[in-house]
Amino acid sequence: MNRRCRSTMPEWLALRKHAVGMKKLHLRDLFAADPGRGRRYALQAEGIYLDFAKNPVNDETLDLLFALAAACGLEQEVRRLFAGEAVNETEGRPALHWALRDSSGRPQRVDGADVMPRIREVREQMAAAAGRIRSGNWIGHGGRPLRHVVHIGIGGSDLGPRMACAALRFYSQRDLQVHFVSNLDPSHLSETLRFLSPETTLFIIASKTFTTQETMANAGAARDWLLEHFQDRAALVRHVAAVTAHPQAALAWGVAAENVFEFWDWVGGRFSLSSAVGLPLMMAVGPERFIDMLSGCAAMDRHFRSAPPRENLPLLLALLGVWHADFMGAATHAVLPYSQYLRLFPAFLQQLEMESNGKGVDRGGREVDYATAPVLWGEPGTGGQHAFFQLLHQGTQAVPCDFIGYRRSLEPFRDHHEQLLANMFAQAQALAFGRTREELAREKVPAALQPFREFAGNRPSNTILAEELTPATLGKLIALYEHKVFAQGVLWNVFSFDQWGVELGKKIAGRLLPKIKGELPADDEDGSTRALIEYCRDKNPSEK
Ligand code: F6P
Repeated sequence: MNRRCRSTMPEWLALRKHAVGMKKLHLRDLFAADPGRGRRYALQAEGIYLDFAKNPVNDETLDLLFALAAACGLEQEVRRLFAGEAVNETEGRPALHWALRDSSGRPQRVDGADVMPRIREVREQMAAAAGRIRSGNWIGHGGRPLRHVVHIGIGGSDLGPRMACAALRFYSQRDLQVHFVSNLDPSHLSETLRFLSPETTLFIIASKTFTTQETMANAGAARDWLLEHFQDRAALVRHVAAVTAHPQAALAWGVAAENVFEFWDWVGGRFSLSSAVGLPLMMAVGPERFIDMLSGCAAMDRHFRSAPPRENLPLLLALLGVWHADFMGAATHAVLPYSQYLRLFPAFLQQLEMESNGKGVDRGGREVDYATAPVLWGEPGTGGQHAFFQLLHQGTQAVPCDFIGYRRSLEPFRDHHEQLLANMFAQAQALAFGRTREELAREKVPAALQPFREFAGNRPSNTILAEELTPATLGKLIALYEHKVFAQGVLWNVFSFDQWGVELGKKIAGRLLPKIKGELPADDEDGSTRALIEYCRDKNPSEK
């Protein structure tokens, strides 16, 4: 494994030098010099088409980027990931999300034991539960079939299934409603339960640790809601399921053994959609479609593992991201799905990328002197065009964008889909090429207005297209970004599978709680926090 400080590697320094020249070029120049660029700088694999021609790169940039990947030991790291080595080093475990969708029949050992049979067993348990609720055969304590599933979880135990349920809604069983509650803000749970009946509601408590404050608070409130109605603890058996890596904790909480769905420490939270965390999705779309999604993930796993670097989609996306963040100075990255079904994809990717690679210390424990994960954000098109695209086109910072779309719509409706594609391609083109003063003059735009109507262009983007939004293409997209994140972790030399940065806030919240409740004085807190606590305890600081 190559743990050399990245910014002193010759390959890194060569990219830095090369970037000086590339910054002077405009995308207009690159396209003028190479009319075939649109086809040459495109990659197609596993039914995904990636156009990366609208990035400030040329053949030399790509040579240097692939040389960096080789020097960082990318291939060896990919082998370690798929060999089940402990790539999550600070927590001392492998990252086996890919094994959850591996249908090769090969054993995968953790501490000497093959984990594949147990993976299949839990998937069968999920399929049985999904079949039971979809068919109306999951009968509640009051004798009525359950028709609402309320999934309680947060972070990786929420964002994946929430995103995927929205993405695959077209395929969902419409008389079964799936809801998600994650926020500690009580309004999230109460607004969700407002029109539900305990008689027809199943709660899924999803928490890898089964200790997360938000999830346990919401689960407790859900249990109260059930017990207040049924006045009988036995009701929990039919109305609560749990998804966790700590089954004993779920049993102790009151979940019946047959409703506990296990996943494992070697599945990272943000990589857990392929595990039992996907249970609400399987309930919504059915086991077959869930397995189709897993097959899509597996196809991208195989591609990442075996495609040569220059034909490797996740690696290419990773390298382009590093090029923008570290050599071209981009601080943020926008993901813009031109699909209403994919509206939650940016939020899902936010955790995937920022919790994985938002790190300031490299694998050797040294503070890094280069940028790691950019701030990822985004909204679906075309709504964003009428909101923040102004900044993308004419603001003071260049924001690399990923446009994501489909050739065909699931809902053919007049020519909406063609209009949608026209907008997506138009935005990428406008960002790249802009509009010059000369063009404005030719269009007879008054000189005084020209500075305001000029578009500098030279704003980079990728366009990612697939045939149609199916469970399998969703799986491919998910795994595409999962492996991009892994590759970037190698390139930045950071550990992608831990998240120590979330610990401190949790610890402080625990200490502040009794002070906010007035059970302890807040005198030992900093002046600002003390004033805030006093304000909430009705002692307005300005009135003291
Ligand atoms: O706080 C961050 C985090 O640990 C995430 O990594 C994780 O996905 C989320 O909390 C939820 O954790 P759990 O599944 O243990 O409730």
